Amino acid sequence: MAIEVSPLPLPRSADPSKFTEFGREVKGVNPGTLTPEEFKEIEQLLYKHSALLFRNTDLTPEQQYALTKAFDPTADSYGHGNNKTGETKKSILHPDLKTIPHVPQVQLIGNGTVYNHEGLAEAKLKHPSHTTFHKTRVSEEDEARGVTRFYRWHIDAALYDLSPPRVTTLYGISIPKGSKQVCRYDDDTGDELEVPLGTTAFVSGKTMFDILPSEFKSLAVRSRVKYMPHPYIWMTPAHAKSTGLGIETEGLEAPMDELPPWEESKVKVFPVLWKNPVTGNLHFEVHPCGVCELFVDPLPQGAKREGALYPDGAHITDLGTVRDTLYKMQRPAIAPSLVYPHDWHEKDLFLFHNRGVLHSVVGAFKPDQVRAFHQCNLAASDDPVGPNAEDVKKWA
Ligand SMILES: [Fe+2]
Repeated sequence: MAIEVSPLPLPRSADPSKFTEFGREVKGVNPGTLTPEEFKEIEQLLYKHSALLFRNTDLTPEQQYALTKAFDPTADSYGHGNNKTGETKKSILHPDLKTIPHVPQVQLIGNGTVYNHEGLAEAKLKHPSHTTFHKTRVSEEDEARGVTRFYRWHIDAALYDLSPPRVTTLYGISIPKGSKQVCRYDDDTGDELEVPLGTTAFVSGKTMFDILPSEFKSLAVRSRVKYMPHPYIWMTPAHAKSTGLGIETEGLEAPMDELPPWEESKVKVFPVLWKNPVTGNLHFEVHPCGVCELFVDPLPQGAKREGALYPDGAHITDLGTVRDTLYKMQRPAIAPSLVYPHDWHEKDLFLFHNRGVLHSVVGAFKPDQVRAFHQCNLAASDDPVGPNAEDVKKWA
């Protein structure tokens, strides 16, 4: 049977003109037992469309690991390092991840208590909630009415020492049924988005770049971001913005001398724009919570200086300025019309190009709503590639 693809079903809130290339449902192939030829086709589709959905899939953790690894055959540890997140009790990610004992690259995530699962006698899972991370929270009354927020827009990546995974695979095992919720931005735009309970929300990093005005395109194509060492420990005491897109600058981050030992050579500096290895498109890929500095190259020779931001280049170390600058560039792309909120069904397998999108957990479950997912991504064998000289010339 030949591989068939069709567009992902979009919610009414989405602007279809912005999703012509984003997302495909794939049929006619079993993602757990792909032949090398079939995998090649899937790989091309993933890089072209950023997200692939397979419905009604049976997939063991071993098969999920093998599928994820096929995108980066020499990678073999989980995106945050095998079992490392669990040991790092101070990390903000610590409560969210439970490792599958016989396939440590695959994590069990979700909500409620799961029994006798893949060698885990009892796993207590907790869906991350904005109430413990954002500076402000939805009131309990509003939460009871189904109002919620994006938890944290991010790339799946350790951002220190390890390279950002190419692909993340998410496999839905138990999906509680419930009413739709309203995700509120609470940033005085009045923006809100109706979402399925417990959706995972995605935005395209390509769209994030494409919709920018030319002065921000020029800034983006010339910029690199530096991430803090151990960023998830650093950010734990801090509070996020109400949109889940970065941290409020209140000086609450863990002080440097309280971070675990670190080495300068393992600190990550990445381009703001990551070049898609198949399409050549530029994707705006910044995990705003972990960034501490911004490096801007000067305009290339011959570029128009009029209206240009930082025409002579800059090294911005003021955390508030770094965050404000990134926020101005990233916020437009999480507008309700640009978000794909996936409506999870049991046995959905969702693959996304982790170097081409940003995503966020959304919603709130009650403790008795049991949700179980297997998640896999692998610290990559290389760092992402930024714009080439031609791209800089075109956009700067
Ligand atoms: Fe994630």
